[in-house]
Amino acid sequence: MGQNAALAHKPAGVGFEEAAAVCDGVILALMGLRPAEVRKGRSILVYGASGSIGTAAVQLSRHFEADVTAVCGSKNLELVRSLGADQVIDYTREDFTADGQTYDVIFDAVGKQSFRRCRGSLNPGGIYLATDDLRNLLLAQWTRFRDKKVIFPIPPRYTKRDVLFLKGLMEAGQYRAVIDKRYPLAEVVEANRYVDTGQKTGNVVLTVG
Ligand SMILES: NC(=O)c1ccc[n+]([C@@H]2O[C@H](COP(=O)([O-])OP(=O)(O)OC[C@H]3O[C@@H](n4cnc5c(N)ncnc54)[C@H](OP(=O)(O)O)[C@@H]3O)[C@@H](O)[C@H]2O)c1
Repeated sequence: MGQNAALAHKPAGVGFEEAAAVCDGVILALMGLRPAEVRKGRSILVYGASGSIGTAAVQLSRHFEADVTAVCGSKNLELVRSLGADQVIDYTREDFTADGQTYDVIFDAVGKQSFRRCRGSLNPGGIYLATDDLRNLLLAQWTRFRDKKVIFPIPPRYTKRDVLFLKGLMEAGQYRAVIDKRYPLAEVVEANRYVDTGQKTGNVVLTVG
């Protein structure tokens, strides 16, 4: 493997389990946030803020100094607030598409929304960031030259620079992997069953040895 491969040493002061939990959701979150130009002065709503991609998207958006609204269920409101969300919305009580608020970016981090539903909650020039549903690939093409756009960053194309960026954030204490449960490798089937419930908070880790 070449010296430019997207690899880095484990961040100093971080355990193996936490390091393993930054290999997936956070990379996907970063691949979406970069083209959506999430930065100071811009607003983002992260839908599904308690999932693997969602917990990462909230923390990274916060790091990029955007105004962050996080949408999750009742039991995770405090968690996502602690990750840096400026506002939180409980999806079991409120429908963010009906409250009149608008955003520069809506990140559907759990694949439960659609561009059609979110379009009215986007500012002019707004971006709907998708993580699921291949129809979003067509929508991304179709909206390319329109005012409001769909971005679907698959496959994720990340570089050594991205991995080193995340390593640096962890070492600086500016990013933490949220781990819900840990399973020994022998219980991989149980672990997958739990992941498949769609209700994990953050990440699930398999431990070896
Ligand atoms: N993670 C990856 O590496 C990866 C790779 C490729 C594609 N994807 C796609 O990206 C999407 C997100 O993946 P993920 O692994 O980050 O998800 P995840 O961690 O499995 O998401 C679980 C979280 O989603 C929340 N949730 C479930 N239903 C919801 C709803 N209707 N509204 C709001 N929140 C809801 C749950 O909270 P409650 O229990 O409170 O509902 C739970 O905390 C999926 O569609 C997946 O197929 C993921």
